[in-house]
This record gives sequence, C-alpha cells and structure tokens, in this order.
Amino acid sequence: MATDTFYTDHWKHIEDDRIARYEQMFQWREGNAALLEPAALAAGLSVLDFGSGPGFMALAIADIVGTSGQVHGVDINARFVADATRRAAGRPNVAFHHVEGAAVPLPDGAVDRAICKNVLEYVPDVDATVAEIKRVLAPGGRIHIIDSDWGFVVVEPWGKAGVERFFTAAAGAFKEPNIGRKAAGLLARHGFRDVEARVFAFADRDGRALPVLRNMKSYVAAGGRMAVAEADALLDAAERGVATGEYLFVLPQFLVSANKG
Ligand SMILES: C[S@@+](CC[C@H](N)C(=O)[O-])C[C@H]1O[C@@H](n2cnc3c(N)ncnc32)[C@H](O)[C@@H]1O
Repeated sequence: MATDTFYTDHWKHIEDDRIARYEQMFQWREGNAALLEPAALAAGLSVLDFGSGPGFMALAIADIVGTSGQVHGVDINARFVADATRRAAGRPNVAFHHVEGAAVPLPDGAVDRAICKNVLEYVPDVDATVAEIKRVLAPGGRIHIIDSDWGFVVVEPWGKAGVERFFTAAAGAFKEPNIGRKAAGLLARHGFRDVEARVFAFADRDGRALPVLRNMKSYVAAGGRMAVAEADALLDAAERGVATGEYLFVLPQFLVSANKG
C-alpha cells in the first residue's frame, strides 16, 4: 500500500485477521448507548450511519427507530457492506451502501440524523465529508460525531514516552489523529447551530480494550517507524500488566452534536 494514502487504503483492503478483530471491537454493547444519547434518536426517524463498518451500531439504531424509521449505513469497505447486509437480512428498515468517495448515495435532505462513529479521523478531506453529510441532512436535522483523539490516550505501564512512541509510529493510519478536539470547531465552521461537545471516558483494567492496541500494532508494523520487536514488547507489557494490575487503558471519546439550521 502507498504510504501517503495508507490512512484510507487500509480501510479499502482489510486482511482476514483484521476483519475478525474488528468484528470483536465493533460489537455493540449495552454500555455504548450513552455514546448515542446526544443524537436524540427516536422511533420513526431516518438515520445515516456514515462509515458503518460491520454494521453493529446501525442495527442497534434500527432497533431504536423501529419499523417506521430507516437506517442507511455507508462504508468504503465492500466486505463490511456485504457482511452488514447479511446481518440485516429480514430487517427492511436497514440498508447498507458501498461508497468510493465522499458522495453519499442519498438525495438532499433525506435523513433526520447523521451519525459518524470513529470515521472522520480517516477521511481524505474532512471538510468535503462534513459538507456531504450536511447535504443529506434535512433542515433541522442533527449530526452526531463520536470520535477519538489519539493525543489523549493513556496506556500503563508504558508511561507517557512509550505511548507517544507507539502512537507516533502508528500515525500514518490516520489522516487526522486529533479529530476529537477539532470536531466541534469543524461543525461550527460548516454553519451548524447549537454545537455541543462532551467527553466520554472509560478506564479499561481487565484487558477488554487490548484489541484496540493489537490493531494499532498492525498499523505500527505497516508504517515501519518502529521495530516490530519493540511494538511486540510494548504489547507484551500491557498484556502482562492485566495480570499484575499495572495495566490501564483510557481512550476518551469526543461526542459532538449540532443541528442543521
Ligand atoms: C474505526 S471503523 C468504525 C466502524 C463503525 N463506525 C463503528 O464504530 O463500529 C472506521 C470505518 O470507517 C470506514 N471508512 C473509512 N474511510 C471512509 C470513507 N472515506 N467513507 C466511508 N467510510 C469510511 C471504514 O471502512 C470503517 O468501516
């Protein structure tokens, strides 16, 4: 893969082991409901899930909007779209669409809500993507962004220096690794009203978030900016830390919502 477009290419072509890891990482869990709360979802609404991945969140949203509502998932990865479509069999209120660029295959003003979870950090042109999402939102519709900011990560027992080395080595996998802190300003710049930002943080001590670090290790390996042995040693230290109690992983999620005037 080209190094200058790795941040987007690594989503277009995903190896089987990463697909398996993502199916685990992106399962929709009960505790995730808080992430969606600012989106003000309700029965009967139509919703865009931009970057829907394996489709688990879109299916959870379909449960909320019910059969009088509709969910459209769009994703740049064709296999995710095929797998999500299979998962949605028999659910006429959910459809998944494969996209190749920023264009969303929906008419102007088609949806009441647009949700984008952990996607904007990867898109080639975040302004073009937000403008396109705004186009498909109905007047008065609401956008809700859920995203990380890789400058706010804590991984113990790595210490600050270890975290910085590891995430700098993985940086080629992201177009905008600090999207979390920028999302509110982004929506304001695009003319959205009532921009609200909050931060949701969860501290993992039992290792359930380790797949996120293992996934990052695949980005580190692809980037060639850190020896694989060093990345392996960091992962081993984190895994051992679960048993000794020294492990702690915090990856705050920025929740940013706004209305289209
Ligand atoms: C970290 S995953 C998040 C998946 C899902 N939103 C979730 O949280 O479970 C990022 C997703 O964004 C998709 N993606 C990346 N770039 C995209 C783009 N330019 N347009 C649409 N989808 C994109 C990827 O294929 C992947 O499914």
